[in-house]
Amino acid sequence: MTILKENLPVGLCSDHAGFELKGIIEGYLESKGIPYKDFGTFGTESCDYPDFAHPCAEAVEAGEVYPGIAICGTGNGIGMTLNKHQGIRAALCWQPELARLARAHNDANVLVLPGRFIEPEVALECVDTFLSTEFEGGRHQRRIDKMPVKK
Ligand code: RB5
Repeated sequence: MTILKENLPVGLCSDHAGFELKGIIEGYLESKGIPYKDFGTFGTESCDYPDFAHPCAEAVEAGEVYPGIAICGTGNGIGMTLNKHQGIRAALCWQPELARLARAHNDANVLVLPGRFIEPEVALECVDTFLSTEFEGGRHQRRIDKMPVKK
């Protein structure tokens, strides 16, 4: 089973603290023949995660990429930024079971990883699980429908 959509790349973004892991994940996706779009950052120079999170979030919302994978040092800053977007459900995960539940129960559309607090092998397991877990719907759909802030 895969949540990947035909002809739609996975969207990736990170800050400097997630740059190395982003590259490892890209190598993993390439080895599986999975297309991706990289929204940056493109080096280890200190930078601000919102500059990369917002374009990635907008692309997920616009249906140009799916799903997203985002990484900063803790995962918190980039995840908080992504979740400002009403159409984004970004889930911070540091073990595969969290990635599975983020998909199965929350229909998460962005996987967020804490680059400074996760081993690359575990991060790749999280990616693999996230990309292969279907949303269960049902009662979980009802809860997701209540997430957006009413204006
Ligand atoms: C960068 O030093 C660090 O603050 C950032 O990657 C992230 O952890 C913030 O939430």
